[in-house]
Amino acid sequence: MKSRTSLTSWKDLNEHAQEMKKYHMSEIFEQDAERFTDFSIRLEPFLLDYSKNLITHNTMDKLIALAKECEVESWREKMFNGERINSTEDRAVLHTALRDRSHAKLMLDDKNISDDIKKSLNKMKEFSDNIRQGLYKGYSGKRITDVVNIGVGGSNLGPQMVTEGLKKYSDCNVNVHYVSNVDGTQIANVLRPLNPETVLFIVSSKTFTTTETITNAKTAMKWLVSSSFDQGAITKHFVAVSSNKANAMEFGIDEDNIFDMWDWVGGRFSLWSAIGLPIAIDLGFERFTELLEGAHEMDKHFKTAPLEANTPVILALLSVWNCTFLGAQSQAILPYDQPLHMLSAYLQQAEMESNGKSVNWHGDEIDYPTVPSIWGELGINGQHAFYQYLHQSNNVVPADFIGSVESVTPVKGHHETLMANFFAQTQALMQGVNEEQVRADLKAKGRTQEYIDQVAPHKVHKGNRPTNTILMKRISPKSLGSLIALYEHKIFVQGIILQVCSFDQWGVELGKGLANKIKAELESDNCNSPHDSSTDGLIKYYKSVGTL
Ligand code: F6P
Repeated sequence: MKSRTSLTSWKDLNEHAQEMKKYHMSEIFEQDAERFTDFSIRLEPFLLDYSKNLITHNTMDKLIALAKECEVESWREKMFNGERINSTEDRAVLHTALRDRSHAKLMLDDKNISDDIKKSLNKMKEFSDNIRQGLYKGYSGKRITDVVNIGVGGSNLGPQMVTEGLKKYSDCNVNVHYVSNVDGTQIANVLRPLNPETVLFIVSSKTFTTTETITNAKTAMKWLVSSSFDQGAITKHFVAVSSNKANAMEFGIDEDNIFDMWDWVGGRFSLWSAIGLPIAIDLGFERFTELLEGAHEMDKHFKTAPLEANTPVILALLSVWNCTFLGAQSQAILPYDQPLHMLSAYLQQAEMESNGKSVNWHGDEIDYPTVPSIWGELGINGQHAFYQYLHQSNNVVPADFIGSVESVTPVKGHHETLMANFFAQTQALMQGVNEEQVRADLKAKGRTQEYIDQVAPHKVHKGNRPTNTILMKRISPKSLGSLIALYEHKIFVQGIILQVCSFDQWGVELGKGLANKIKAELESDNCNSPHDSSTDGLIKYYKSVGTL
């Protein structure tokens, strides 16, 4: 298989990028009144406007040629059909099957996995209904009022982001809490106001080997047993979601209380599985199903739309264009919708853990930039914090602006102010303001020539900063499902084009292994393992000052 840099379309795009760098987006907008029409897609439940990128029709043709030369369509088929495209772990990648509302038969290793999925969904429904209706009782016969999800990474970010995103749809029947950090402060704060008689713990861990999660779960178990004086309380108050049943049972969780996970679901793509149990408890199973439906709609679009009208493909190609060909090194995710306040944290894991890699499928060093670092914050908060950098630093940060036509919580006058900023920012980032305009403006305001000469350069905004706008109708379980699936598929396409293994995460192992060794040293008097002098010095200082 050829390296990506030797592809005709790649070389062509490289040359084209040098040419395009000579242009400013505002000039191209002036020359072409049809840009919005040509470079936007309306697809239920959102509109994607990608016209504010440094692209022309020619650019898009070349990017589509790249997608074709990289065989995106055939890789897409392989993923949906359950081929083992996670090559370094020899696994299929089938999070799409979890939300396949057609319940089509899907054979994997001679087994119809859609039967397993149905079984798991039924178990989730029954369990979440029982909790919500108060039929499920704790050890003392009281109904469950609080659920604490203990998990980290994919076993936390997806469910928590969705719980936060869909708060408006929760009937607050049961309070859902999340514990992800092994810093005891978090679990202590969560447990403090809770009553052990009415709490249910969900230990979410695909592998059931994650030290942080196991440590938190042990603390929760101790808290429960010491407050209830009843070892049997564990059966009523602990459930697990895991593909490692043996470890979960050894930990002390009843077999019947274990919800399945499968090796063909990556942690960061797992909220559609029983990892989404806290969502189902919070919103009800019907709403959880709507979330799956929204994602399934996006799956159908991704699977069938021609590449040039395929929203995940377009977002992926633009990311490759902006980062690999034009040199941007980071990308901002900027939601103008309070419910989406955890979206950038969620996408950080989804994109960076998937594609933040530097060898290709064959294990060869990659000699082009892969994915940018992903960061972001709610847009309005960002405007008063880091937008200065977006507008005037000498690094160009492409950004996705995500907003809604309707607020889930209309408060008179607020939404218009919010959305005025939403529209203004992408315009300002694209157009900028040149020195001539700045000077004319200052002159019109009656400023002295001396002041104008001094201040004008500081007020110049170069503009030409690429943005995508995703304008949703309204945040709902269904639209959020579609939005998340949009990004999941974008990440998949990016991985194919950049030729990286998107579904493994070896990069998190080295630090984990070292932490285990160092923990043993922190707990013993000897600290004789060889470290570098910095790590040694830090550990010795910590041990000499602390009171372990
Ligand atoms: O350390 C990274 C990671 O393996 C993620 O990929 C995963 O989502 C997270 O840890 C949690 O893993 P688990 O669900 O197995 O506890």
